[in-house]
Amino acid sequence: MSALRVAVTGSGGQVGSRVVALLRGLSVPVEIFAVGRARLDVTARDEVHEFVSALRPDWIINCAAYTAVDRAETEPERAYAANAMAVRWLVEAAERSGSRVCHFSTDYVFDGSLGRPYREWDRTNPLGVYGASKLAGEMELRTGLDLCLRSAWVMSASAGNIAATVGRLALSRTEMRFVDDQFGSPTSADDLAAATIRLILSSCSGRFHVVNAGAASWLEVARHLAACVGADPDLVKPAATAEMRERFPAPRPVYSVLEPAALAAGGFEPLRDWHEALAESAAQALEAGAWS
Ligand SMILES: NC(=O)c1ccc[n+]([C@@H]2O[C@H](COP(=O)([O-])OP(=O)(O)OC[C@H]3O[C@@H](n4cnc5c(N)ncnc54)[C@H](OP(=O)(O)O)[C@@H]3O)[C@@H](O)[C@H]2O)c1
Repeated sequence: MSALRVAVTGSGGQVGSRVVALLRGLSVPVEIFAVGRARLDVTARDEVHEFVSALRPDWIINCAAYTAVDRAETEPERAYAANAMAVRWLVEAAERSGSRVCHFSTDYVFDGSLGRPYREWDRTNPLGVYGASKLAGEMELRTGLDLCLRSAWVMSASAGNIAATVGRLALSRTEMRFVDDQFGSPTSADDLAAATIRLILSSCSGRFHVVNAGAASWLEVARHLAACVGADPDLVKPAATAEMRERFPAPRPVYSVLEPAALAAGGFEPLRDWHEALAESAAQALEAGAWS
Protein backbone atom coordinates (compact mmCIF):
# COMPACT_ATOMS: atom_id res chain seq x y z
CA MET A 1 0.00 0.00 0.00
CA SER A 2 1.58 3.29 -1.04
CA ALA A 3 1.80 6.02 1.58
CA LEU A 4 -0.86 8.74 1.66
CA ARG A 5 0.86 12.05 0.96
CA VAL A 6 -0.53 14.80 3.19
CA ALA A 7 0.55 18.44 3.25
CA VAL A 8 -0.48 20.53 6.26
CA THR A 9 -0.44 24.33 6.05
CA GLY A 10 -0.54 26.54 9.15
CA SER A 11 1.04 23.65 11.02
CA GLY A 12 2.12 25.87 13.93
CA GLY A 13 -1.47 26.77 14.86
CA GLN A 14 -3.78 25.20 17.40
CA VAL A 15 -5.51 22.79 14.99
CA GLY A 16 -2.52 22.40 12.64
CA SER A 17 -0.21 21.20 15.40
CA ARG A 18 -2.75 18.61 16.59
CA VAL A 19 -3.40 17.38 13.04
CA VAL A 20 0.34 16.89 12.48
CA ALA A 21 0.78 15.12 15.83
CA LEU A 22 -2.08 12.71 15.12
CA LEU A 23 -0.91 12.06 11.55
CA ARG A 24 2.53 11.12 12.93
CA GLY A 25 0.91 8.55 15.22
CA LEU A 26 -1.14 6.79 12.53
CA SER A 27 -0.56 3.11 11.92
CA VAL A 28 -1.18 3.46 8.16
CA PRO A 29 1.69 4.72 5.99
CA VAL A 30 1.58 8.52 5.63
CA GLU A 31 4.09 11.00 4.28
CA ILE A 32 3.62 14.33 6.04
CA PHE A 33 4.72 17.70 4.69
CA ALA A 34 3.98 20.16 7.49
CA VAL A 35 4.62 23.84 6.86
CA GLY A 36 4.07 26.83 9.10
CA ARG A 37 3.72 30.41 7.94
CA ALA A 38 7.51 30.90 7.77
CA ARG A 39 7.81 28.09 5.17
CA LEU A 40 4.62 28.78 3.24
CA ASP A 41 2.59 31.98 3.22
CA VAL A 42 -0.71 30.75 1.83
CA THR A 43 -1.62 34.24 0.61
CA ALA A 44 1.32 34.17 -1.84
CA ARG A 45 -0.03 32.54 -5.00
CA ASP A 46 3.37 31.68 -6.50
CA GLU A 47 4.60 30.09 -3.26
CA VAL A 48 1.44 27.99 -3.01
CA HIS A 49 1.74 26.77 -6.62
CA GLU A 50 5.42 25.95 -6.20
CA PHE A 51 4.83 24.05 -2.96
CA VAL A 52 1.90 22.00 -4.24
CA SER A 53 3.37 21.20 -7.66
CA ALA A 54 6.67 20.07 -6.10
CA LEU A 55 4.97 17.69 -3.65
CA ARG A 56 1.80 16.65 -5.48
CA PRO A 57 0.17 15.57 -2.20
CA ASP A 58 -3.01 13.48 -2.11
CA TRP A 59 -4.46 15.94 0.41
CA ILE A 60 -3.67 19.47 1.51
CA ILE A 61 -5.07 20.06 5.00
CA ASN A 62 -5.33 23.83 5.22
CA CYS A 63 -5.01 24.85 8.86
CA ALA A 64 -3.72 28.32 8.00
CA ALA A 65 -6.18 31.13 8.67
CA TYR A 66 -6.62 34.66 9.89
CA THR A 67 -8.42 33.97 13.17
CA ALA A 68 -8.39 37.36 14.95
CA VAL A 69 -12.18 37.81 15.01
CA ASP A 70 -12.16 41.33 16.48
CA ARG A 71 -9.15 42.65 14.57
CA ALA A 72 -10.72 41.45 11.31
CA GLU A 73 -13.29 44.25 11.60
CA THR A 74 -10.54 46.81 10.92
CA GLU A 75 -8.31 44.58 8.73
CA PRO A 76 -10.74 43.07 6.21
CA GLU A 77 -8.09 42.88 3.45
CA ARG A 78 -5.85 40.68 5.59
CA ALA A 79 -8.79 38.50 6.66
CA TYR A 80 -9.94 37.96 3.06
CA ALA A 81 -6.38 37.36 1.82
CA ALA A 82 -5.81 34.50 4.28
CA ASN A 83 -9.34 33.13 4.57
CA ALA A 84 -10.65 33.47 1.02
CA MET A 85 -7.97 34.15 -1.60
CA ALA A 86 -5.53 31.68 -0.06
CA VAL A 87 -8.17 28.97 -0.45
CA ARG A 88 -8.50 29.95 -4.11
CA TRP A 89 -4.72 29.56 -4.60
CA LEU A 90 -4.70 26.20 -2.80
CA VAL A 91 -7.65 24.85 -4.80
CA GLU A 92 -6.19 26.15 -8.07
CA ALA A 93 -2.85 24.45 -7.30
CA ALA A 94 -4.60 21.29 -6.08
CA GLU A 95 -6.60 21.08 -9.31
CA ARG A 96 -3.35 21.13 -11.34
CA SER A 97 -1.61 18.53 -9.15
CA GLY A 98 -4.47 16.09 -8.64
CA SER A 99 -4.65 16.97 -4.94
CA ARG A 100 -7.69 17.46 -2.72
CA VAL A 101 -8.14 20.20 -0.15
CA CYS A 102 -9.44 19.78 3.39
CA HIS A 103 -10.38 23.18 4.75
CA PHE A 104 -11.76 24.45 8.06
CA SER A 105 -14.59 26.89 8.53
CA THR A 106 -16.59 28.25 11.42
CA ASP A 107 -19.95 28.62 13.15
CA TYR A 108 -19.51 32.39 12.59
CA VAL A 109 -20.84 31.94 9.03
CA PHE A 110 -24.28 31.92 10.73
CA ASP A 111 -26.13 34.86 12.28
CA GLY A 112 -27.41 32.89 15.27
CA SER A 113 -31.08 33.70 14.76
CA LEU A 114 -32.33 30.23 13.74
CA GLY A 115 -33.33 29.14 17.24
CA ARG A 116 -32.07 25.55 16.83
CA PRO A 117 -28.65 24.01 16.11
CA TYR A 118 -27.44 24.72 12.58
CA ARG A 119 -27.17 21.90 10.06
CA GLU A 120 -24.76 21.91 7.15
CA TRP A 121 -27.47 23.01 4.71
CA ASP A 122 -28.89 25.92 6.73
CA ARG A 123 -28.72 29.44 5.36
CA THR A 124 -25.53 31.32 6.15
CA ASN A 125 -25.46 35.02 7.05
CA PRO A 126 -22.24 36.06 8.77
CA LEU A 127 -22.45 39.05 11.10
CA GLY A 128 -18.78 40.07 11.06
CA VAL A 129 -15.79 40.29 8.72
CA TYR A 130 -14.15 37.11 10.03
CA GLY A 131 -17.26 35.00 9.36
CA ALA A 132 -17.78 36.64 5.97
CA SER A 133 -14.19 35.96 4.94
CA LYS A 134 -14.48 32.32 6.06
CA LEU A 135 -17.71 31.92 4.08
CA ALA A 136 -15.91 33.36 1.04
CA GLY A 137 -13.23 30.68 1.54
CA GLU A 138 -15.88 27.93 1.64
CA MET A 139 -17.12 29.09 -1.77
CA GLU A 140 -13.72 28.34 -3.36
CA LEU A 141 -13.92 24.59 -2.62
CA ARG A 142 -14.81 22.00 -5.25
CA THR A 143 -17.94 19.86 -4.88
CA GLY A 144 -17.22 16.15 -4.86
CA LEU A 145 -13.51 16.62 -4.15
CA ASP A 146 -12.72 18.97 -1.30
CA LEU A 147 -13.72 18.78 2.35
CA CYS A 148 -15.09 21.70 4.35
CA LEU A 149 -15.12 21.09 8.09
CA ARG A 150 -17.01 23.69 10.10
CA SER A 151 -16.02 23.72 13.73
CA ALA A 152 -16.52 26.08 16.67
CA TRP A 153 -15.04 27.35 19.92
CA VAL A 154 -11.91 25.23 19.48
CA MET A 155 -9.72 24.76 22.56
CA SER A 156 -6.71 22.68 23.53
CA ALA A 157 -4.12 22.03 26.21
CA SER A 158 -1.62 24.28 24.43
CA ALA A 159 -1.03 27.91 25.36
CA GLY A 160 -2.66 30.77 23.46
CA ASN A 161 -6.32 29.76 23.43
CA ILE A 162 -9.30 30.58 25.64
CA ALA A 163 -9.02 27.39 27.69
CA ALA A 164 -5.43 28.26 28.53
CA THR A 165 -6.45 31.78 29.57
CA VAL A 166 -9.19 30.44 31.86
CA GLY A 167 -6.88 27.75 33.22
CA ARG A 168 -4.10 30.24 34.02
CA LEU A 169 -6.45 32.70 35.74
CA ALA A 170 -8.24 29.95 37.66
CA LEU A 171 -4.96 28.42 38.87
CA SER A 172 -3.90 31.82 40.22
CA ARG A 173 -7.37 32.27 41.84
CA THR A 174 -8.09 35.36 39.72
CA GLU A 175 -11.70 36.35 39.09
CA MET A 176 -12.76 36.62 35.45
CA ARG A 177 -15.91 37.44 33.49
CA PHE A 178 -17.43 35.46 30.66
CA VAL A 179 -20.63 36.10 28.73
CA ASP A 180 -23.69 34.04 29.54
CA ASP A 181 -25.70 35.12 26.48
CA GLN A 182 -23.72 33.53 23.62
CA PHE A 183 -24.20 29.81 23.01
CA GLY A 184 -22.06 27.54 20.87
CA SER A 185 -20.41 24.15 20.50
CA PRO A 186 -17.18 23.92 22.54
CA THR A 187 -14.75 21.61 20.75
CA SER A 188 -11.42 20.02 21.55
CA ALA A 189 -8.71 20.55 18.94
CA ASP A 190 -7.65 16.92 19.48
CA ASP A 191 -11.13 15.59 18.72
CA LEU A 192 -11.42 17.88 15.69
CA ALA A 193 -8.04 16.69 14.39
CA ALA A 194 -8.96 13.03 14.92
CA ALA A 195 -12.28 13.46 13.07
CA THR A 196 -10.49 15.30 10.25
CA ILE A 197 -8.13 12.39 9.74
CA ARG A 198 -11.02 9.88 9.85
CA LEU A 199 -12.84 11.78 7.10
CA ILE A 200 -9.71 12.00 4.96
CA LEU A 201 -8.94 8.30 5.36
CA SER A 202 -12.57 7.62 4.33
CA SER A 203 -11.98 9.80 1.24
CA CYS A 204 -14.98 12.01 2.07
CA SER A 205 -15.83 15.27 0.37
CA GLY A 206 -18.36 18.00 1.08
CA ARG A 207 -19.34 19.97 4.16
CA PHE A 208 -19.40 18.55 7.67
CA HIS A 209 -20.06 20.14 11.05
CA VAL A 210 -17.37 18.75 13.34
CA VAL A 211 -17.92 19.71 16.98
CA ASN A 212 -18.10 18.00 20.33
CA ALA A 213 -21.62 17.04 21.42
CA GLY A 214 -23.66 19.43 23.57
CA ALA A 215 -24.01 23.19 23.75
CA ALA A 216 -22.88 25.80 26.24
CA SER A 217 -22.47 29.49 26.97
CA TRP A 218 -18.96 30.89 27.43
CA LEU A 219 -19.77 31.20 31.15
CA GLU A 220 -20.51 27.46 31.37
CA VAL A 221 -17.33 26.60 29.46
CA ALA A 222 -15.15 28.77 31.69
CA ARG A 223 -16.75 27.46 34.91
CA HIS A 224 -16.24 23.88 33.74
CA LEU A 225 -12.58 24.54 32.92
CA ALA A 226 -12.04 26.23 36.31
CA ALA A 227 -13.49 23.15 38.03
CA CYS A 228 -11.30 20.88 35.89
CA VAL A 229 -8.13 22.57 37.17
CA GLY A 230 -9.37 22.26 40.76
CA ALA A 231 -10.41 25.89 41.20
CA ASP A 232 -13.72 27.35 42.36
CA PRO A 233 -16.04 27.73 39.32
CA ASP A 234 -17.53 30.83 40.96
CA LEU A 235 -14.28 32.67 40.18
CA VAL A 236 -15.95 33.05 36.77
CA LYS A 237 -18.60 35.79 36.92
CA PRO A 238 -21.34 36.27 34.33
CA ALA A 239 -21.33 39.20 31.93
CA ALA A 240 -23.59 40.32 29.09
CA THR A 241 -22.24 40.65 25.54
CA ALA A 242 -23.27 44.32 25.51
CA GLU A 243 -21.01 45.01 28.53
CA MET A 244 -18.01 43.44 26.77
CA ARG A 245 -18.39 45.27 23.46
CA GLU A 246 -15.37 47.51 23.98
CA ARG A 247 -13.05 44.51 24.46
CA PHE A 248 -14.75 42.34 21.84
CA PRO A 249 -16.10 44.72 19.18
CA ALA A 250 -16.91 42.17 16.45
CA PRO A 251 -20.56 41.11 16.31
CA ARG A 252 -21.02 37.44 17.19
CA PRO A 253 -24.00 35.11 16.77
CA VAL A 254 -25.95 34.59 20.01
CA TYR A 255 -26.75 30.94 19.24
CA SER A 256 -24.43 29.23 16.75
CA VAL A 257 -24.58 25.67 18.04
CA LEU A 258 -23.69 23.29 15.20
CA GLU A 259 -25.48 20.01 14.59
CA PRO A 260 -23.18 17.37 13.04
CA ALA A 261 -25.99 16.20 10.77
CA ALA A 262 -23.74 15.10 7.87
CA LEU A 263 -21.53 12.99 10.17
CA ALA A 264 -24.65 11.26 11.50
CA ALA A 265 -26.14 10.76 8.03
CA GLY A 266 -22.80 9.40 6.79
CA GLY A 267 -22.72 6.80 9.57
CA PHE A 268 -19.77 8.39 11.40
CA GLU A 269 -19.51 8.20 15.18
CA PRO A 270 -20.47 11.53 16.77
CA LEU A 271 -17.78 13.33 18.78
CA ARG A 272 -18.03 12.89 22.55
CA ASP A 273 -19.59 15.42 24.93
CA TRP A 274 -17.66 18.69 25.27
CA HIS A 275 -17.37 18.39 29.08
CA GLU A 276 -15.34 15.19 28.78
CA ALA A 277 -13.24 16.50 25.89
CA LEU A 278 -12.27 19.74 27.65
CA ALA A 279 -11.64 17.91 30.93
CA GLU A 280 -9.08 15.82 29.04
CA SER A 281 -7.42 18.96 27.60
CA ALA A 282 -7.29 20.48 31.11
CA ALA A 283 -5.73 17.30 32.52
CA GLN A 284 -3.10 17.30 29.76
CA ALA A 285 -2.34 20.98 30.39
CA LEU A 286 -2.00 20.40 34.15
CA GLU A 287 0.36 17.50 33.59
CA ALA A 288 2.50 19.53 31.18
CA GLY A 289 2.30 22.70 33.30
CA ALA A 290 1.09 24.44 30.14
CA TRP A 291 -1.44 26.73 31.86
CA SER A 292 0.70 27.79 34.83
N1 LIG B 1 -10.11 28.48 17.05
C1 LIG B 1 -11.43 28.38 16.91
O1 LIG B 1 -12.20 28.58 17.85
C2 LIG B 1 -12.01 28.00 15.58
C3 LIG B 1 -13.40 27.85 15.48
C4 LIG B 1 -13.96 27.50 14.26
C5 LIG B 1 -13.16 27.31 13.16
N2 LIG B 1 -11.81 27.48 13.27
C6 LIG B 1 -10.99 27.32 12.08
O2 LIG B 1 -10.05 26.29 12.30
C7 LIG B 1 -8.87 26.55 11.55
C8 LIG B 1 -7.64 26.47 12.45
O3 LIG B 1 -7.80 27.45 13.49
P1 LIG B 1 -6.83 27.50 14.75
O4 LIG B 1 -7.68 27.55 15.96
O5 LIG B 1 -5.79 26.46 14.64
O6 LIG B 1 -6.20 28.95 14.53
P2 LIG B 1 -4.73 29.46 14.90
O7 LIG B 1 -4.26 28.80 16.14
O8 LIG B 1 -4.84 30.95 14.84
O9 LIG B 1 -3.83 28.94 13.70
C9 LIG B 1 -3.84 29.53 12.45
C10 LIG B 1 -2.45 29.35 11.89
O10 LIG B 1 -2.44 29.91 10.57
C11 LIG B 1 -1.22 30.63 10.44
N3 LIG B 1 -1.34 31.63 9.39
C12 LIG B 1 -1.99 32.83 9.41
N4 LIG B 1 -1.85 33.46 8.26
C13 LIG B 1 -1.08 32.65 7.47
C14 LIG B 1 -0.57 32.75 6.16
N5 LIG B 1 -0.81 33.83 5.41
N6 LIG B 1 0.17 31.74 5.67
C15 LIG B 1 0.42 30.64 6.41
N7 LIG B 1 -0.02 30.49 7.66
C16 LIG B 1 -0.77 31.48 8.18
C17 LIG B 1 -1.01 31.25 11.80
O11 LIG B 1 0.33 31.67 11.91
P3 LIG B 1 0.68 32.92 12.87
O12 LIG B 1 0.50 32.41 14.26
O13 LIG B 1 2.07 33.24 12.46
O14 LIG B 1 -0.32 34.00 12.53
C18 LIG B 1 -1.38 30.08 12.70
O15 LIG B 1 -0.28 29.22 12.89
C19 LIG B 1 -9.08 27.93 10.91
O16 LIG B 1 -9.54 27.76 9.59
C20 LIG B 1 -10.17 28.56 11.74
O17 LIG B 1 -10.92 29.52 11.02
C21 LIG B 1 -11.21 27.81 14.46
